[in-house]
Amino acid sequence: MEFEVTPWEVKGEVDYEKLIRRFGTKKITEDLRQKIKKHTKELDTMLRRDYFFSHRDLDLVLNDWEKGEGFFLYTGRGPSGPMHIGHLVPLIFTKWLQEKFGVNLYIEITDDEKYWVKDCEWKDVQKYSDENIKDIAAVGFDPEKTFIFKDSEYIRNVYPILVRAAKKITNSTAKAVFGFSGDTNIGLNFYPAYQTVPTFFEKKRCLIPCAIDQDPYWRVQRDIAEKIGYKKTAAIHSKFLPPLTGIDGKMSASDADTAIWLEDDEKAVKKKINKYAFSGGKTTIEEHRRLGGDPNVDVSFQWLKILFENDDNKLKKIETEYLSGKLLSGELKQILIEKINLFLTEHRKRREKIDVEKFTKTGALAKKMWGSFFI
Ligand code: TYM
Repeated sequence: MEFEVTPWEVKGEVDYEKLIRRFGTKKITEDLRQKIKKHTKELDTMLRRDYFFSHRDLDLVLNDWEKGEGFFLYTGRGPSGPMHIGHLVPLIFTKWLQEKFGVNLYIEITDDEKYWVKDCEWKDVQKYSDENIKDIAAVGFDPEKTFIFKDSEYIRNVYPILVRAAKKITNSTAKAVFGFSGDTNIGLNFYPAYQTVPTFFEKKRCLIPCAIDQDPYWRVQRDIAEKIGYKKTAAIHSKFLPPLTGIDGKMSASDADTAIWLEDDEKAVKKKINKYAFSGGKTTIEEHRRLGGDPNVDVSFQWLKILFENDDNKLKKIETEYLSGKLLSGELKQILIEKINLFLTEHRKRREKIDVEKFTKTGALAKKMWGSFFI
Protein backbone atom coordinates (compact mmCIF):
# COMPACT_ATOMS: atom_id res chain seq x y z
CA MET A 1 0.00 0.00 0.00
CA GLU A 2 1.23 3.50 -0.84
CA PHE A 3 1.75 5.51 2.38
CA GLU A 4 -0.21 8.62 3.25
CA VAL A 5 0.65 11.51 5.60
CA THR A 6 -1.89 14.19 6.51
CA PRO A 7 -2.17 16.40 9.63
CA TRP A 8 -4.79 13.97 10.95
CA GLU A 9 -3.59 10.56 9.92
CA VAL A 10 -0.54 8.55 8.89
CA LYS A 11 -1.11 5.34 6.95
CA GLY A 12 1.33 2.73 5.66
CA GLU A 13 5.12 2.61 5.75
CA VAL A 14 6.42 6.15 5.43
CA ASP A 15 9.23 6.64 2.91
CA TYR A 16 10.75 9.89 4.21
CA GLU A 17 12.89 10.55 1.12
CA LYS A 18 9.81 10.26 -1.04
CA LEU A 19 7.85 12.45 1.35
CA ILE A 20 10.44 15.23 0.96
CA ARG A 21 9.86 15.13 -2.78
CA ARG A 22 6.09 14.85 -2.45
CA PHE A 23 5.83 17.79 -0.04
CA GLY A 24 8.53 19.82 -1.82
CA THR A 25 10.64 20.34 1.33
CA LYS A 26 14.44 20.07 1.60
CA LYS A 27 16.64 17.50 3.28
CA ILE A 28 18.79 18.69 6.20
CA THR A 29 22.29 18.21 4.84
CA GLU A 30 25.53 17.79 6.80
CA ASP A 31 26.51 21.29 5.62
CA LEU A 32 23.39 22.78 7.15
CA ARG A 33 23.95 20.87 10.39
CA GLN A 34 27.45 22.34 10.60
CA LYS A 35 26.06 25.81 9.94
CA ILE A 36 23.71 25.37 12.91
CA LYS A 37 26.55 24.03 15.04
CA LYS A 38 28.53 27.18 14.40
CA HIS A 39 25.97 28.99 16.55
CA THR A 40 24.91 26.30 18.99
CA LYS A 41 28.39 24.77 19.60
CA GLU A 42 26.84 21.29 19.85
CA LEU A 43 24.05 19.49 18.03
CA ASP A 44 20.94 18.14 19.68
CA THR A 45 20.72 14.33 19.48
CA MET A 46 17.62 14.42 17.28
CA LEU A 47 19.38 16.66 14.78
CA ARG A 48 22.64 14.71 14.91
CA ARG A 49 20.90 11.41 14.29
CA ASP A 50 18.84 12.72 11.36
CA TYR A 51 15.53 12.43 13.22
CA PHE A 52 14.88 16.07 12.38
CA PHE A 53 15.51 15.47 8.73
CA SER A 54 13.69 18.01 6.57
CA HIS A 55 13.13 21.76 6.44
CA ARG A 56 11.87 24.83 4.65
CA ASP A 57 14.13 27.89 4.58
CA LEU A 58 16.17 26.92 7.65
CA ASP A 59 19.18 28.32 5.79
CA LEU A 60 17.41 31.69 5.57
CA VAL A 61 16.70 31.61 9.31
CA LEU A 62 20.40 31.19 9.96
CA ASN A 63 21.25 33.97 7.50
CA ASP A 64 18.81 36.29 9.28
CA TRP A 65 20.38 35.32 12.59
CA GLU A 66 23.88 36.04 11.28
CA LYS A 67 22.75 39.44 10.00
CA GLY A 68 21.37 40.26 13.47
CA GLU A 69 17.75 40.24 12.35
CA GLY A 70 16.86 37.30 14.60
CA PHE A 71 13.88 34.96 14.32
CA PHE A 72 11.17 33.47 16.54
CA LEU A 73 9.79 30.01 17.26
CA TYR A 74 6.25 28.69 16.99
CA THR A 75 4.77 25.25 17.62
CA GLY A 76 1.49 23.78 18.83
CA ARG A 77 -0.74 21.02 20.08
CA GLY A 78 -4.28 19.87 19.35
CA PRO A 79 -5.82 19.00 22.75
CA SER A 80 -7.85 15.92 21.78
CA GLY A 81 -6.83 13.87 24.81
CA PRO A 82 -3.90 13.25 27.14
CA MET A 83 -0.42 13.51 25.62
CA HIS A 84 1.93 10.69 24.67
CA ILE A 85 5.71 10.83 24.41
CA GLY A 86 5.50 11.36 20.62
CA HIS A 87 3.85 14.73 21.25
CA LEU A 88 6.83 15.78 23.36
CA VAL A 89 9.34 15.21 20.57
CA PRO A 90 8.93 18.58 18.80
CA LEU A 91 8.60 20.34 22.16
CA ILE A 92 11.86 18.95 23.53
CA PHE A 93 13.62 19.99 20.35
CA THR A 94 12.01 23.43 20.48
CA LYS A 95 13.26 23.85 24.03
CA TRP A 96 16.78 23.12 22.83
CA LEU A 97 16.47 25.75 20.09
CA GLN A 98 15.11 28.32 22.56
CA GLU A 99 17.99 27.66 24.95
CA LYS A 100 20.60 27.98 22.22
CA PHE A 101 19.23 31.11 20.52
CA GLY A 102 17.35 32.74 23.41
CA VAL A 103 14.39 33.64 21.17
CA ASN A 104 10.65 34.07 21.77
CA LEU A 105 8.37 31.06 21.46
CA TYR A 106 4.61 30.89 20.78
CA ILE A 107 2.62 27.71 21.43
CA GLU A 108 -0.87 27.40 19.97
CA ILE A 109 -3.43 25.12 21.63
CA THR A 110 -6.01 24.35 18.96
CA ASP A 111 -9.17 23.57 20.91
CA ASP A 112 -11.28 24.72 17.94
CA GLU A 113 -9.47 22.44 15.47
CA LYS A 114 -9.89 19.35 17.62
CA TYR A 115 -13.56 20.09 18.28
CA TRP A 116 -14.17 20.40 14.54
CA VAL A 117 -12.16 17.30 13.57
CA LYS A 118 -13.12 14.83 16.28
CA ASP A 119 -16.35 13.41 17.53
CA CYS A 120 -16.00 15.00 20.98
CA GLU A 121 -17.59 17.36 23.49
CA TRP A 122 -16.47 20.99 23.88
CA LYS A 123 -16.10 20.59 27.66
CA ASP A 124 -13.71 17.64 27.20
CA VAL A 125 -11.56 19.60 24.76
CA GLN A 126 -11.37 22.36 27.37
CA LYS A 127 -10.35 19.92 30.09
CA TYR A 128 -7.62 18.44 27.89
CA SER A 129 -6.43 21.93 26.92
CA ASP A 130 -5.74 22.71 30.58
CA GLU A 131 -4.06 19.35 31.18
CA ASN A 132 -1.95 19.58 28.01
CA ILE A 133 -0.82 23.12 28.80
CA LYS A 134 0.58 21.84 32.12
CA ASP A 135 2.49 19.08 30.34
CA ILE A 136 3.81 21.50 27.75
CA ALA A 137 4.93 24.09 30.29
CA ALA A 138 6.68 21.28 32.23
CA VAL A 139 9.04 20.71 29.28
CA GLY A 140 11.04 23.63 30.65
CA PHE A 141 10.73 26.64 28.34
CA ASP A 142 11.82 30.11 29.40
CA PRO A 143 8.67 31.48 31.13
CA GLU A 144 9.54 35.08 30.24
CA LYS A 145 9.98 34.31 26.55
CA THR A 146 7.18 31.80 25.99
CA PHE A 147 3.48 32.42 25.37
CA ILE A 148 1.05 29.49 25.40
CA PHE A 149 -2.44 30.39 24.22
CA LYS A 150 -5.71 28.61 23.49
CA ASP A 151 -7.39 29.53 20.19
CA SER A 152 -10.87 30.14 21.63
CA GLU A 153 -9.44 32.46 24.30
CA TYR A 154 -6.95 34.47 22.27
CA ILE A 155 -9.23 34.90 19.24
CA ARG A 156 -10.17 38.46 20.16
CA ASN A 157 -6.56 39.66 19.81
CA VAL A 158 -5.95 37.95 16.47
CA TYR A 159 -9.26 38.15 14.65
CA PRO A 160 -8.27 41.12 12.45
CA ILE A 161 -5.14 39.37 11.13
CA LEU A 162 -7.03 36.08 10.90
CA VAL A 163 -9.67 37.55 8.60
CA ARG A 164 -6.92 38.96 6.39
CA ALA A 165 -5.26 35.56 6.13
CA ALA A 166 -8.59 33.80 5.57
CA LYS A 167 -9.46 36.13 2.70
CA LYS A 168 -6.41 34.90 0.76
CA ILE A 169 -7.08 31.16 1.23
CA THR A 170 -9.53 29.78 -1.30
CA ASN A 171 -11.72 26.71 -1.08
CA SER A 172 -9.73 25.13 -3.90
CA THR A 173 -6.50 25.54 -1.94
CA ALA A 174 -8.06 24.05 1.20
CA LYS A 175 -9.43 21.19 -0.86
CA ALA A 176 -6.17 20.51 -2.69
CA VAL A 177 -3.95 20.75 0.41
CA PHE A 178 -6.12 19.09 3.06
CA GLY A 179 -8.51 16.98 0.99
CA PHE A 180 -11.58 18.80 2.37
CA SER A 181 -14.82 17.83 0.67
CA GLY A 182 -18.48 18.81 0.66
CA ASP A 183 -18.94 16.86 3.90
CA THR A 184 -16.26 18.80 5.78
CA ASN A 185 -17.83 21.17 8.30
CA ILE A 186 -17.19 24.83 7.59
CA GLY A 187 -15.37 25.24 10.92
CA LEU A 188 -12.59 22.95 9.78
CA ASN A 189 -12.60 24.56 6.37
CA PHE A 190 -11.79 27.88 8.05
CA TYR A 191 -9.38 26.51 10.65
CA PRO A 192 -6.15 26.42 8.55
CA ALA A 193 -6.22 30.22 8.48
CA TYR A 194 -5.87 30.25 12.29
CA GLN A 195 -2.90 27.87 12.27
CA THR A 196 -1.03 30.34 10.01
CA VAL A 197 -1.68 33.32 12.34
CA PRO A 198 1.09 32.81 14.94
CA THR A 199 3.65 33.06 12.10
CA PHE A 200 2.58 36.75 11.92
CA PHE A 201 3.19 37.53 15.61
CA GLU A 202 6.51 39.19 14.80
CA LYS A 203 7.86 40.82 11.66
CA LYS A 204 10.91 38.53 11.88
CA ARG A 205 11.07 35.12 10.23
CA CYS A 206 9.23 32.36 12.04
CA LEU A 207 10.73 28.88 12.51
CA ILE A 208 8.33 26.02 13.25
CA PRO A 209 9.61 22.75 14.75
CA CYS A 210 7.04 19.95 14.27
CA ALA A 211 6.67 16.47 12.82
CA ILE A 212 6.27 16.52 9.05
CA ASP A 213 2.52 15.84 9.22
CA GLN A 214 1.93 19.56 9.92
CA ASP A 215 3.71 20.75 6.78
CA PRO A 216 0.54 21.20 4.67
CA TYR A 217 -0.32 24.21 6.86
CA TRP A 218 3.04 25.81 6.14
CA ARG A 219 2.48 25.40 2.42
CA VAL A 220 -0.66 27.48 2.77
CA GLN A 221 1.11 30.06 4.94
CA ARG A 222 3.91 30.39 2.40
CA ASP A 223 1.35 30.93 -0.32
CA ILE A 224 -0.26 33.91 1.41
CA ALA A 225 2.30 35.48 3.77
CA GLU A 226 3.86 37.96 1.37
CA LYS A 227 0.45 38.97 0.05
CA ILE A 228 -0.38 40.31 3.50
CA GLY A 229 3.02 41.84 4.23
CA TYR A 230 4.83 39.09 6.16
CA LYS A 231 7.69 36.66 5.59
CA LYS A 232 7.17 33.11 4.46
CA THR A 233 7.57 30.86 7.45
CA ALA A 234 10.44 28.43 7.85
CA ALA A 235 9.98 24.96 9.32
CA ILE A 236 12.08 22.09 10.64
CA HIS A 237 10.44 18.67 10.43
CA SER A 238 10.91 15.47 12.38
CA LYS A 239 10.05 11.92 11.44
CA PHE A 240 7.46 10.17 13.62
CA LEU A 241 8.19 8.44 16.87
CA PRO A 242 6.97 4.95 15.94
CA PRO A 243 4.26 3.12 17.86
CA LEU A 244 5.29 0.24 20.12
CA THR A 245 4.04 -2.29 17.62
CA GLY A 246 6.44 -1.55 14.76
CA ILE A 247 8.73 1.06 13.26
CA ASP A 248 6.30 2.04 10.51
CA GLY A 249 3.72 4.73 11.08
CA LYS A 250 3.40 7.07 14.05
CA MET A 251 2.58 6.75 17.69
CA SER A 252 -0.99 7.85 17.72
CA ALA A 253 -3.60 8.70 20.31
CA SER A 254 -6.12 6.46 18.61
CA ASP A 255 -4.41 3.23 19.72
CA ALA A 256 -3.88 3.51 23.48
CA ASP A 257 -1.83 0.33 23.99
CA THR A 258 0.76 1.21 21.38
CA ALA A 259 1.62 4.57 22.94
CA ILE A 260 3.34 5.55 26.19
CA TRP A 261 1.28 8.27 27.88
CA LEU A 262 2.83 10.91 30.08
CA GLU A 263 0.56 9.69 32.86
CA ASP A 264 1.58 5.99 32.57
CA ASP A 265 3.03 4.73 35.87
CA GLU A 266 6.08 2.48 36.21
CA LYS A 267 4.05 -0.72 36.12
CA ALA A 268 2.14 0.31 33.01
CA VAL A 269 5.34 1.26 31.16
CA LYS A 270 6.97 -2.06 32.04
CA LYS A 271 3.93 -4.08 31.05
CA LYS A 272 3.41 -2.30 27.73
CA ILE A 273 7.02 -2.46 26.62
CA ASN A 274 7.40 -6.11 27.55
CA LYS A 275 4.14 -7.03 25.89
CA TYR A 276 3.97 -4.80 22.81
CA ALA A 277 7.39 -3.37 21.88
CA PHE A 278 8.21 -4.92 18.53
CA SER A 279 11.45 -6.83 18.84
CA GLY A 280 14.24 -7.35 16.33
CA GLY A 281 15.42 -10.34 18.38
CA LYS A 282 15.24 -13.97 17.39
CA THR A 283 12.58 -16.38 18.59
CA THR A 284 14.80 -18.46 20.89
CA ILE A 285 17.71 -17.41 23.11
CA GLU A 286 19.96 -19.98 21.45
CA GLU A 287 19.20 -18.60 17.98
CA HIS A 288 19.58 -15.01 19.17
CA ARG A 289 22.99 -15.72 20.70
CA ARG A 290 24.07 -17.34 17.43
CA LEU A 291 22.59 -14.87 14.90
CA GLY A 292 22.08 -11.64 16.85
CA GLY A 293 19.19 -9.14 16.70
CA ASP A 294 18.22 -6.44 14.20
CA PRO A 295 18.30 -2.96 15.80
CA ASN A 296 16.85 -1.34 12.67
CA VAL A 297 13.43 -2.87 13.20
CA ASP A 298 13.57 -3.05 16.98
CA VAL A 299 11.29 -0.41 18.48
CA SER A 300 13.10 -0.35 21.84
CA PHE A 301 16.40 0.36 20.11
CA GLN A 302 14.82 3.02 17.87
CA TRP A 303 13.27 4.82 20.84
CA LEU A 304 16.62 4.82 22.63
CA LYS A 305 18.19 6.24 19.49
CA ILE A 306 15.61 8.99 18.99
CA LEU A 307 14.94 10.16 22.49
CA PHE A 308 16.24 8.21 25.44
CA GLU A 309 19.99 7.56 24.99
CA ASN A 310 21.88 10.73 24.17
CA ASP A 311 25.32 9.26 24.72
CA ASP A 312 26.65 8.07 21.33
CA ASN A 313 29.15 5.66 22.89
CA LYS A 314 26.53 4.00 25.05
CA LEU A 315 24.16 3.68 22.10
CA LYS A 316 26.91 2.19 19.96
CA LYS A 317 27.68 -0.39 22.65
CA ILE A 318 24.02 -1.39 22.89
CA GLU A 319 23.82 -1.69 19.12
CA THR A 320 26.98 -3.78 18.80
CA GLU A 321 25.99 -6.13 21.61
CA TYR A 322 22.49 -6.54 20.22
CA LEU A 323 23.81 -7.26 16.73
CA SER A 324 26.23 -9.86 18.10
CA GLY A 325 23.61 -11.60 20.22
CA LYS A 326 25.28 -10.75 23.53
CA LEU A 327 22.39 -8.48 24.49
CA LEU A 328 19.00 -10.19 24.58
CA SER A 329 15.74 -8.58 23.55
CA GLY A 330 14.42 -8.71 27.13
CA GLU A 331 17.57 -6.96 28.38
CA LEU A 332 17.26 -4.26 25.73
CA LYS A 333 13.66 -3.69 26.76
CA GLN A 334 14.76 -3.40 30.39
CA ILE A 335 17.21 -0.62 29.48
CA LEU A 336 14.39 1.28 27.75
CA ILE A 337 11.90 0.71 30.61
CA GLU A 338 14.33 2.26 33.10
CA LYS A 339 15.04 5.23 30.85
CA ILE A 340 11.38 5.96 30.20
CA ASN A 341 10.40 5.64 33.84
CA LEU A 342 13.13 8.03 34.88
CA PHE A 343 12.10 10.47 32.16
CA LEU A 344 8.40 10.32 33.13
CA THR A 345 9.11 10.66 36.85
CA GLU A 346 11.14 13.80 36.24
CA HIS A 347 8.51 15.18 33.88
CA ARG A 348 5.75 14.68 36.46
CA LYS A 349 7.83 16.29 39.21
CA ARG A 350 8.28 19.42 37.08
CA ARG A 351 4.59 19.33 36.13
CA GLU A 352 3.47 19.41 39.78
CA LYS A 353 5.52 22.49 40.51
CA ILE A 354 4.82 24.39 37.30
CA ASP A 355 3.36 27.89 37.39
CA VAL A 356 1.21 27.70 34.25
CA GLU A 357 0.05 31.31 34.54
CA LYS A 358 3.58 32.54 33.78
CA PHE A 359 3.23 31.06 30.31
CA THR A 360 -0.39 32.00 29.68
CA LYS A 361 -0.85 35.32 31.49
CA THR A 362 1.86 36.78 33.73
CA GLY A 363 5.31 36.15 32.15
CA ALA A 364 6.88 39.02 30.19
CA LEU A 365 5.95 37.71 26.72
CA ALA A 366 2.47 36.58 27.81
CA LYS A 367 1.73 40.03 29.25
CA LYS A 368 2.92 41.73 26.09
CA MET A 369 0.80 39.44 23.91
CA TRP A 370 -2.41 40.09 25.85
CA GLY A 371 -1.76 43.78 25.27
CA SER A 372 -1.20 43.33 21.53
CA PHE A 373 -3.86 43.37 18.84
CA PHE A 374 -2.87 42.07 15.43
CA ILE A 375 -4.29 44.20 12.68
P1 TYM B 1 -1.02 17.36 17.35
O1 TYM B 1 -1.61 17.60 18.68
O2 TYM B 1 -1.60 16.30 16.47
O3 TYM B 1 0.51 17.04 17.52
C1 TYM B 1 1.36 17.89 18.29
C2 TYM B 1 2.77 17.85 17.76
O4 TYM B 1 3.29 16.53 17.87
C3 TYM B 1 3.74 16.05 16.61
N1 TYM B 1 3.50 14.60 16.62
C4 TYM B 1 4.48 13.71 16.64
N2 TYM B 1 5.82 13.88 16.58
C5 TYM B 1 6.58 12.77 16.58
N3 TYM B 1 6.07 11.52 16.64
C6 TYM B 1 4.74 11.29 16.70
N4 TYM B 1 4.28 10.05 16.75
C7 TYM B 1 3.88 12.44 16.70
N5 TYM B 1 2.53 12.60 16.73
C8 TYM B 1 2.32 13.94 16.70
C9 TYM B 1 2.95 16.85 15.58
O5 TYM B 1 3.62 16.96 14.35
C10 TYM B 1 2.87 18.21 16.27
O6 TYM B 1 4.05 18.95 16.05
N6 TYM B 1 -2.71 21.06 14.34
C11 TYM B 1 -1.71 20.71 15.35
C12 TYM B 1 -1.58 21.80 16.42
C13 TYM B 1 -0.72 22.95 15.98
C14 TYM B 1 0.67 22.87 15.64
C15 TYM B 1 1.03 24.22 15.30
C16 TYM B 1 1.60 21.84 15.63
C17 TYM B 1 -1.11 24.25 15.83
N7 TYM B 1 -0.07 25.01 15.43
C18 TYM B 1 2.35 24.51 14.96
C19 TYM B 1 2.91 22.13 15.27
C20 TYM B 1 3.27 23.46 14.93
C21 TYM B 1 -2.04 19.38 16.01
O7 TYM B 1 -3.17 18.97 16.09
O8 TYM B 1 -0.94 18.75 16.55
